[in-house]
Amino acid sequence: MRYFLIGFMGSGKTTFGRALAARLAVPFVDLDAQIEATEGRTIPQIFAEAGEAAFREIERKHLRDTSRYSEAVVATGGGAPCFFDNMAWMNKSGTTIYLQASPQILFERLEKEAAGRPLLAHLGPESLQRVIVETLEKREWFYAQAQFTVPQSGHDFDRILENLEAIVRPNPEK
Ligand code: S3P
Repeated sequence: MRYFLIGFMGSGKTTFGRALAARLAVPFVDLDAQIEATEGRTIPQIFAEAGEAAFREIERKHLRDTSRYSEAVVATGGGAPCFFDNMAWMNKSGTTIYLQASPQILFERLEKEAAGRPLLAHLGPESLQRVIVETLEKREWFYAQAQFTVPQSGHDFDRILENLEAIVRPNPEK
């Protein structure tokens, strides 16, 4: 089984994904890391040199390439479900899990980690807070299409992994 973890920047997809993959004893794939390794450039470099639209094309291609893993946990970039038909493709190609987090939790995390993220790097604290709220509002429609949601939790991932069946909620309409 292929699992796709989706959610906003700073929602913990990489941390949770690594732990989930270890628990399931399947490979862990970090889509952003895969893009950087294959393209030979960092994500900020791709944004700066080629622009966001080009990055989204590259991201789409690398996402499709994950179909070569019959079993894996794939951590996607925060924007991946929101472009092209990526979300529908993930739902068709594996199990999708949305890591939900409140704007406040995201702000606390991203304040320290904005530098490596081209969409946030230039923002001061007030703009960062506003951009998180506005972007999350736009993206929630895509994230809500996930088959499962890990609800806002403070992200005690050890506890979530211990109680995976109880905590991870199937989305009713999926
Ligand atoms: C992005 C999220 C990033 C990375 C790129 C764009 C986004 O991944 O793909 O900077 O649009 O939300 P993380 O969610 O791993 O930070």
